[in-house]
Amino acid sequence: MTDQYLVTLTVNGEDHELLVTARRTLVDALRHDLHLTGTHVGCEHGVCGACTILVDGAPARACLMFAVQAEGRDLRTVESLGSPDSPNDLQRAFSEHHALQCGFCTPGFLMLAEGFLASRPRATKAEIREAVSANLCRCTGYQTIVEAVDDCASRRRCAPDTTEGEATPEPGQNDTPRPA
Ligand code: FES
Ligand code: FES
Repeated sequence: MTDQYLVTLTVNGEDHELLVTARRTLVDALRHDLHLTGTHVGCEHGVCGACTILVDGAPARACLMFAVQAEGRDLRTVESLGSPDSPNDLQRAFSEHHALQCGFCTPGFLMLAEGFLASRPRATKAEIREAVSANLCRCTGYQTIVEAVDDCASRRRCAPDTTEGEATPEPGQNDTPRPA
């Protein structure tokens, strides 16, 4: 019989206790154990980015992590952004710019962009293009995805600032790591 481990995963602000085998991937735990099926699985090799979530605020490939490695980390999936009835501003921008066709890659792009904009709110279009190149889209093309992320970033910059003391990155400084 395969050994199982009790882990607590903190997902979208809620703690979940799970019994998992050591080799249970994080993406399988999210989808099959917690029924958070918004996170998609494509290549399972860390290439396509369909499984991108935020781990401690940074984009990461959930297919490359084991569930046991995620204990104590702050996990955010696409379900944290909004709902069909109440999409967040990034999701609305994707819709307005037609930044998806089949939508399979979209949850990964949304979480990649959400993490990127959180750390690089003043990113240039070229930096956005570089950031979204980490994920693969087979049917939309990248232009509308770049337009959507750029539009969302512009609108967020124009919105009233509710944060205090947040450091403003230097122009051209891109310190966002590529997803693991
Ligand atoms: S499923 Fe392709 S990178 Fe994870
Ligand atoms: S919208 Fe179909 S793969 Fe990206």
